Amino acid sequence: TISFQELASNSKPIVPVIALPTLESALPLADTLSSCGFTMLEITLRTDCALDAINQLRQQRPELIIGAGTVKNSQQLQQALDAGAQFIVSPGTDSDMITQARAQQVALVPGVMTPSEIMQAANLGMDTVKLFPAALAGGTEFISAMAAVFQGVKFFPTGGVSEDNVNQYLALPNVICAGGTWLTPTSLISRGDWNKIHEIAQRC
Ligand code: 3PG
Repeated sequence: TISFQELASNSKPIVPVIALPTLESALPLADTLSSCGFTMLEITLRTDCALDAINQLRQQRPELIIGAGTVKNSQQLQQALDAGAQFIVSPGTDSDMITQARAQQVALVPGVMTPSEIMQAANLGMDTVKLFPAALAGGTEFISAMAAVFQGVKFFPTGGVSEDNVNQYLALPNVICAGGTWLTPTSLISRGDWNKIHEIAQRC
């Protein structure tokens, strides 16, 4: 099994979280992001074309690392794997999904928002968790407070992470990467405004 930490170590520490409005936007968006060095992309299962987009990106852009996000149950997890997803991100922690991901040797990042959920994920063998929604959970102060208690656990915060605060998250030793939708606003993808997305991505 390739762990999420291994996958992330080959990439920039910012993961664009993408809600793709159309399949046609998948390749130009991925090319815009990868031209700025973003090679690890999370395609959320929030839009109808997400699974097809994951499949297309895996076939046509094999140099990228493509994950599925907003995966909330075992059925969606299987669909994401069938589409070729290389990692799975979930807003919550579900023991069935963790068992399934382990059996299929795919990296899964379960979502947490409380110490009990971190304990649940860690006790199921997870060494990386998504803090979601990071800002509402307490942001960088929460993650710092968890460092002493959960020494082996790395955080992937999303939800309220932005250009203005991402470096504060990334400065924490127990943060492996951070993600969010701010790099790829749906309005810009829908308009095909790759120049504007390129500008945002370059700044980050
Ligand atoms: C996620 O799915 O990780 C979050 O919805 C991203 O949150 P953001 O829109 O605040 O970046």
